[in-house]
Amino acid sequence: MTQAPKKLFIKTYGCQMNVYDSDRMADALAPHGYEPTADMLDADLVVLNTCHIREKASEKVFSELGRLRDLREERRAEGRDLMIGVAGCVAQAEGEEIVRRAPAVDLVFGPQSYHRLPELVARAHNGAKVVDTEFPAEDKFDHLPAAKKEVTLARGLTAFLTVQEGCDKFCTFCVVPYTRGTETSRKVEQVLTEARNLAAAGVRELTLLGQNVNAYHGLDAAGRSMDLGELCFRLAEIPGIARIRYTTSHPLDMSDALIEAHRDLPALMPYLHLPVQSGSDRILKAMNRRHTTRQYHEIIARIRDARPDLALSGDFIVGFPGETDADFEDTLNLVRTVRYASAFTFKYSMRPGTPGADLPDQIDEAVKVDRLAQLNALIAEHTRDFAQSCVGKVLPVLIEKPGRNAGQVGGRSPYLQAVHMDGPTRLIGQILPVRIVAVGNNSLKGEIVTESEPNSVSLGLSDGRTPPSAGAAQGA
Ligand code: 5AD
Ligand code: SF4
Repeated sequence: MTQAPKKLFIKTYGCQMNVYDSDRMADALAPHGYEPTADMLDADLVVLNTCHIREKASEKVFSELGRLRDLREERRAEGRDLMIGVAGCVAQAEGEEIVRRAPAVDLVFGPQSYHRLPELVARAHNGAKVVDTEFPAEDKFDHLPAAKKEVTLARGLTAFLTVQEGCDKFCTFCVVPYTRGTETSRKVEQVLTEARNLAAAGVRELTLLGQNVNAYHGLDAAGRSMDLGELCFRLAEIPGIARIRYTTSHPLDMSDALIEAHRDLPALMPYLHLPVQSGSDRILKAMNRRHTTRQYHEIIARIRDARPDLALSGDFIVGFPGETDADFEDTLNLVRTVRYASAFTFKYSMRPGTPGADLPDQIDEAVKVDRLAQLNALIAEHTRDFAQSCVGKVLPVLIEKPGRNAGQVGGRSPYLQAVHMDGPTRLIGQILPVRIVAVGNNSLKGEIVTESEPNSVSLGLSDGRTPPSAGAAQGA
């Protein structure tokens, strides 16, 4: 296509994998004359990249489609057209039903079809309603354009990198195994190439993504299977990459090798998202989580042993069918024992097609609301305590952007806390030791200790391996 550039607007709902996918869709369409716009009203193609995980997330899509239909009518009155696409997990789950419910939609395609997007858009241009939600036998990762240097540059110092997709666990509340399919891992070389491109574009921190990322088992060039711990070591060798995170993990996939990586690889950030969902063994069983609370505590103890400065975050669902007051009390007790630095909490949302939807004893909304409020209050207390415990410590902070006021900069601690400091913008991109002096609203205030990256971190630039003290919280 060699016409004037068309404008693409992608609205992303849901998890970080959707954020990553949206960028890849933009990359796939760029050679076909579509350039991104930040203004939906200016777009020729609007794609809603949707989330199906809870009912609310799904329903948002249909109200947005109503607004887009009106926008298209206004447009047509002006003689200009608008193409509307629905991608992501709602597209995968609902398929043709979307076009039936929202006839303005031109294009419905699931997460396995993104590499075919240019072809699908071309078909829709010819007036066809396109619905593509097959799970193809071929590997979509072989076809997706790797993150582009120049595009990534504009996206900053931190980047997501999908290494794994899908889930074989089948928790009884969850749609992911149905919308994202079975577990697949990207090949090691593909991941490394993409990471090198990102590093060359200035990225310092990678967050490896997967619905069950710690189940990663990618093949290396010799056809050998590599687990996530080993992959992290390989990524840390890339010049420029100083920090690695991964999300989301299942407790049962915390392998010995991955725990060793937490012990031996300072670039692996000491902040782990390890959802448990409930603190009641009865409910864990009904959720098909495949482990007990005791096993969860044991796994955490091993990881904390390997990396004593590690902080945890988690996911919780309140009001799963059959959850009693006593079950909920068990959840509060688990939270009191683990003391999460932060956590995501959800009211159980019945998802059609999952086993949970057929369970008796669905819980009243009022009970869910009450339990959620109690749980949130407890976690907020722990989050504040954790922030307070950072005061007086020197933490390595990735300086990311100018601050709110002139002469200030903002960055992130190893624990993803926002940190504000006095300092010149030339420091952006460095990881500097920062003494935490106060806790603010959802952020920390710090003072830069030295304005040059310590050797330990610069060493990480040359060979990726840093001495054991680097990256760890120092001080009090
Ligand atoms: N209802 C509520 N929360 C859910 N999650 C997944 N499915 C549901 C559901 N049906 C939550 C889990 C998961 C997170 C991504 O979303 O806590 O870890
Ligand atoms: Fe869903 Fe995670 Fe359970 Fe897989 S492990 S079914 S993605 S909650």
